[in-house]
Amino acid sequence: MEATNSKMDDIKTDPQINLNYEPSEFPRELARHYISASEDDIAEMLNFIGINRLEDLFNHIPKFLQFDGGMNLPNELEYNAAASKLAKIADRSNLKVSFIGDSVPHWSTHPIVDYISKLRPLSTSYTPYQPERSQGTLVTHWIYQCVLSTLTGFEAINTSLYDRSAAIYEAITCAYRTNPRGGKILLAKSLFESDLKVIQTLSEETELEFLFVPYDSQTGLLQYDWLKSLSEEELNEISAFAFPQVNSLGLLEDVDFLSDFARSNGIRSIACIDPMLLGTGGLKPPTDFGMEGADFMVGEAQHLAIPPNFGGPGLGIFGCRHNENNKKDLRSTPGRYIGKAKDINGRDCFVMVLSTREQHIRKEKATSNVCSNQAFLATLAGASLLAKGENGLAESVQKAKSMRGKVLDALDNLKGVTLAYPESCGFNELLLKLDSPVNELQEKASAQNLQLGIDASNRISSKKNHHLLKLSFSDIHDEDSVEKLISFFHEQFTKNNSIKGEQRSKKEIGPDYLREKAAGIPSFSYDELTLYYEKLADLNVSPDDGCYPLGSCTMKYNPMLNDWAASLPGFAQAHPQALEGDIQGPLEILFEIQEWFTKITGLPGVTTQPVAGAQGELVGLKLFQAYHRSRNDLNRDVIFIPQSAHGTNFATAAMAGFTGTDGIVYLQASPNGTIDMEDFNQKILKYGHRLCGVMITNPNTSGIFEDQFHSIAKIVHQAGGLVYMDGANMNAIAGVIDLGKLGVDAVHNNLHKTWTIPHGGGGPGDAIVAVSEKLKDFLPGHQVYKNSDGSFYSRCPSKSIGSFHRNWGNFGHKVRAYSYLLRLGNEGIPRMSTVAVLSARYLHAKLKNYFPTLPSEAESAPRMHEFILTLSEKDFFNLQKVGIPKSKAIPQVGKLFLDFGFHAPTVAFPEIFGLMIEPTESYTKAELDRFVDAVIAIKQLIEECPEAVKTAPHFTPIDRVDEVDANRNLVLQEKLEHLPSLHLNRIKPSVLNDLEISEIKKRIIDCTS
Ligand SMILES: Cc1ncc(COP(=O)(O)O)c(C=O)c1O
Repeated sequence: MEATNSKMDDIKTDPQINLNYEPSEFPRELARHYISASEDDIAEMLNFIGINRLEDLFNHIPKFLQFDGGMNLPNELEYNAAASKLAKIADRSNLKVSFIGDSVPHWSTHPIVDYISKLRPLSTSYTPYQPERSQGTLVTHWIYQCVLSTLTGFEAINTSLYDRSAAIYEAITCAYRTNPRGGKILLAKSLFESDLKVIQTLSEETELEFLFVPYDSQTGLLQYDWLKSLSEEELNEISAFAFPQVNSLGLLEDVDFLSDFARSNGIRSIACIDPMLLGTGGLKPPTDFGMEGADFMVGEAQHLAIPPNFGGPGLGIFGCRHNENNKKDLRSTPGRYIGKAKDINGRDCFVMVLSTREQHIRKEKATSNVCSNQAFLATLAGASLLAKGENGLAESVQKAKSMRGKVLDALDNLKGVTLAYPESCGFNELLLKLDSPVNELQEKASAQNLQLGIDASNRISSKKNHHLLKLSFSDIHDEDSVEKLISFFHEQFTKNNSIKGEQRSKKEIGPDYLREKAAGIPSFSYDELTLYYEKLADLNVSPDDGCYPLGSCTMKYNPMLNDWAASLPGFAQAHPQALEGDIQGPLEILFEIQEWFTKITGLPGVTTQPVAGAQGELVGLKLFQAYHRSRNDLNRDVIFIPQSAHGTNFATAAMAGFTGTDGIVYLQASPNGTIDMEDFNQKILKYGHRLCGVMITNPNTSGIFEDQFHSIAKIVHQAGGLVYMDGANMNAIAGVIDLGKLGVDAVHNNLHKTWTIPHGGGGPGDAIVAVSEKLKDFLPGHQVYKNSDGSFYSRCPSKSIGSFHRNWGNFGHKVRAYSYLLRLGNEGIPRMSTVAVLSARYLHAKLKNYFPTLPSEAESAPRMHEFILTLSEKDFFNLQKVGIPKSKAIPQVGKLFLDFGFHAPTVAFPEIFGLMIEPTESYTKAELDRFVDAVIAIKQLIEECPEAVKTAPHFTPIDRVDEVDANRNLVLQEKLEHLPSLHLNRIKPSVLNDLEISEIKKRIIDCTS
């Protein structure tokens, strides 16, 4: 493809900026607004659909719902200007020698991470729903599962949950499902406070009730006697117990006692671990806790893959047992698993398994609402562990431990600083008791370019004169940094020769706490791994290479500039717990995002905390509940959701507690696909007084604007309810429709769709939630404000519902989104959505002559960003004749798209006989025309050679995968002796892209005969 844009930016980039890629090598990178179509392309497409001007695409939507005179956002910046602005903001962070660690540990990042991050078919592809075209992603996740399993001992590792907090909560709900008892949960106070806050927020309005196990002020550990004092009656009510291996003071809990205590009392144990510390020479794995090990294992693994990134994207790890003694738990767990499989010709391969527990199938009965997860972080973590290998990991662990020891020795005879809780052990963290407030010392250290750990005083006691400083050590620390720290202490505290080191006790860690045998992590060289992951990338396709038509997923171009910006040290290395003065860069990004999204949505409040669309939905519903509670309106226990909604909407509602009689009420669609007003009005009559709110996707999942949305919102408000808009399809209306005027109270924007965050093979996603005035004060997390001197600070809203992430959400993605916004500006945002709609309308107009479209009576409804094709009865019949039943026809037709070098459209959602196509604004007319030719060729194959549908796909590395067998005979991990062997493409997508469509069709027929 050539960049044919009429207004191109200056191709030369500013040498000062030091981009780590060459923009002109990426043809879409320099196109204005990242829209590849030329003005001529746009004119021709408009002409074809019989419309004069781009803005006329929205003529069917009342003008009073549209922005009048733009959003009042800044103008777009040219490429260089955007890059330098981002670099300047990043420079506002002060990066110092840091001993913060704590809830976001900071370890060295292996160079393999940078290498794999640039492999676009891995970083930009979608969730591997089409295994034949996604073996690259599937193998990277398989590696993650295998290595994490080796490290932790757990047989089933999912890939992945949002972060540690979410993983603990999901483990709690899973343990509760498998062991309901009285629904009481023991929660260790020694978990991180930020995690506890998320857990409490998520549990609001659910059946869960927490009992907090307190700290023991003598030991700095949990009060084990408190546990022992629980009566049998109390114990019988308890479903689960979540506790850390290393507590928030950096001390090692007696995990043997805690696991055995849980098991002997019929309580499911959830061990929170740090995977980094489990390397050889480190702490013992959770399968070795007590007599039989913990039941569930959770933790944070962001630091296996990337630096702090101001707290995210995180990587929540979650494991359960899956062996001869326990096969039950797995089906109650949340999240995604990859299993070993065979294709129909017996080739070894991989596929996602256990999806019958997930939201897209089970809706409100799903095990969790997670859809986009943290997949790419799992890819990176798996590769990093292989690159570090057994020895590398052991060295890192030893280094952290020895640095701690060195500092402890050096502080031994200082007056005013002592080891806190000397009878308890630490591993790589050091808890010091000071004779003066910690913040005073931190300020002094900061002036000397040191980030001096964290103030842990309030974690265990609220007493005055109780000053605890926690320092974290890792393999980022070298002799120089530790010497700097030691010198600082020696400057600040005087020597006291009367104190003998030995008297202060440095208790050795007993063997019961440590790993007994080597971890056995396989090791591979950097060169081996780069070659291997390149091969994996070749097995996927990327939106870089052409239309990626997955409906509802908005697979648009992901600018390189965004990734570069997110990797700037001022963002990537910033720690979310650093002093406010050191993190002005990240705070500025968050402030700007808040500002831009209030204008983009037309709503006055914004939270940047949620990490995925599904989590945004949950934020919305919890806000609704809090709003009603605050008005003492306590019987609003019903939520309306259209039947055709995405599975996450139902799963989210269930997670928010809408589970009672009629908790979730399904709204019916009329034959034209929009909400059936008669049905809606009847339901309002019946449930209006109990209505908490309504959740509506707009444009809906059929690609049609809900023309009654505004009236529905009015009626819902009159009934006392609130309106949530699922904004997964904002790419159709951003910058055009004012959601405030539409009557929306809360909406999520999936950053990984409309706002160009790469999909990463399934995540990390991200979501920004905007809200109406009514909900502003209830927003979760912190809001960022600007002082008159231009500096930034953050505060919690007055009636905040709590927190959904241990820190600021997937911060790295906020940088990416901001980078995109700078390039779009006021004019580019509506141009983006308008061209996306134009592209879809153009394809729809071309293809509707060949295929019936759905919904059945929506023929004349103007399509927005996507549309649904189906087959004629004759086509279905043709396929039946060759043995493809109607129920399997659509997924099978989807496989033919892979043969033409494309990804498949979304199959069988929201209509079971539908192929949902969303082209986005990223492609030229020539590219769209090629896609049209391929779809017409598919139609011809169905008619002329239906056997080709049966045997598809033909050119992918493997034939159709036998998913049923993979689910029946689950294999979720193995000990990796070598890198999994691969089948290579029979014809590479890049070669397919260069062939005429007619030639590909001929080759398919040749394969079939
Ligand atoms: C309409 C709709 N709603 C919600 C979601 C869930 O978003 P996420 O995957 O970011 O959790 C999706 C994801 O595909 C979607 O298409």
